[in-house]
Amino acid sequence: MPINAIILAAGEGTRMKSSHPKVVHKLLGKPLIWWPVHAAREAGAERIIVVVGHGADEVRAALADEAGIEFVEQTERLGTGHAVKCVRDAIGGFQGPTVVLYGDTPLVTAKTIAKLIDETRTNHNACTVLTFEPDDPTGYGRIVRSEDGALEAIVEHKDCTPEQREELWECNSGIYCFCGRRLSENLDKIQANNVQHEYYLTDMVGIYQEMGEPVAGLLAEDANELLGVNSRVQLAQATYVMQDRINARLMDAGVTMLDPALVWVGPEVTVGRDTELLPMTMLWGKTSIGEDCMIGPNTRLTDVTVADGASIEETVGYSTVIDEGVTVGPRAYLRPGTHLCARAHVGTHVEIKNSTIGEGSKVPHLSYIGDTEMGSGVNIGAGSITCNYDGVFKHRTTIGNDVFVGSDTMMVAPVEIGDGALVGAASCITEDVPAGALALERSEQQVYKGYAAKRMRKLKEEKAKQSAKENK
Ligand code: UD1
Ligand code: CA
Repeated sequence: MPINAIILAAGEGTRMKSSHPKVVHKLLGKPLIWWPVHAAREAGAERIIVVVGHGADEVRAALADEAGIEFVEQTERLGTGHAVKCVRDAIGGFQGPTVVLYGDTPLVTAKTIAKLIDETRTNHNACTVLTFEPDDPTGYGRIVRSEDGALEAIVEHKDCTPEQREELWECNSGIYCFCGRRLSENLDKIQANNVQHEYYLTDMVGIYQEMGEPVAGLLAEDANELLGVNSRVQLAQATYVMQDRINARLMDAGVTMLDPALVWVGPEVTVGRDTELLPMTMLWGKTSIGEDCMIGPNTRLTDVTVADGASIEETVGYSTVIDEGVTVGPRAYLRPGTHLCARAHVGTHVEIKNSTIGEGSKVPHLSYIGDTEMGSGVNIGAGSITCNYDGVFKHRTTIGNDVFVGSDTMMVAPVEIGDGALVGAASCITEDVPAGALALERSEQQVYKGYAAKRMRKLKEEKAKQSAKENK
């Protein structure tokens, strides 16, 4: 039977002290809401319905890249029970397992969700609650069990007696698996008679208990999975946990890290074996790194594809393709649309945008190359620049194979330099250079023999005269 997942994300998250809804805050480069969505999908959820409310458009936008997610708007925030009620029309007569997750609980794994579903199915539970024992239960709903250990009710922290707050350590994670049919039949029984005057989804447990419907609490093995993010401090804590998990997985797969605490890798990134990630490396988006690469230190790559054996040092890169054996940096800036072909070299203080640098070509020092198609075996001298922008339009520069461009050359686009051409240093190239030609654009050098010494003598004499005057 198919599985549905409902993810609650309508709340504001006041404790974040933010102008943005809580669930769009990022954890390792992905919005908080992204994580439960993916865990639910990986656990087999067919339909994923996200309840949005506060900052709905921002939440929708945060998930814009994810296919097949449905959104339901909760216009008034009347509690978690009310939020699920808003989805009832969307799920219609769905009878199968219905997983409810909170958008602010990003660390839960697909494995744990699958276990919860399994438990619900096997025992025909009306509801199975995933519970946990955090280091500090403050703020969480507490699990009340009868003497024989059966789940009796969930009492919100604010509704607890002082004794309950002291004694009850098992907490509600906010993750449940319901039987879809019984949920929609009984959802209306939830009332708002509590301290916060909210409709609590957690009341379903007590309601089922009274009806004699089977409910159960499944204690999670790892409390870390259920850390809720309500504040920036908890966001940082959740980041540590996830960073640790991802880095451990990478190291187990053969990636070296000098200090894993100083490497941040997003969930969709892949890294090949024998690659080393040096401190202060951040890999975001759909970045993929091949084998035997050296990345970092101080490097941030977003949606960059790197083939085997590349070395990228102190570099920032976006949407770039880097082929095998390329060396980049230290201190390069690679902007979208860049393709560095095999064994190319982009050196220090070099910016490349929307350009192809051909096989084995080198742009070693202090250059800007934009909107350029460059062949193989090219050498670009230090400080050379493609002038691609006339203030209104962008123009292209084409450089053939085996071209040698002297230092401090301006190539004013649109311009083409043919195969094997040679451009003299300090030239401002405004016209095409044919293949095999030498292009030189600079004024002739003047030489005046003996002039420098003569000038120095004259200046020194002047200074001596001045001092004599002052000492009088
Ligand atoms: C909730 C649980 C508590 C549990 C804790 C785990 C209830 C009543 N309490 O408390 O037992 O220990 O989570 O983290 O469920 N939301 C909506 N619409 C609403 C209200 C909330 O979509 O009207 C969403 C929020 O955006 C959030 C989630 O539901 O993602 C949980 O709401 P929150 O107010 O954070 O509940 P807690 O007080 O943390
Ligand atoms: Ca919460």
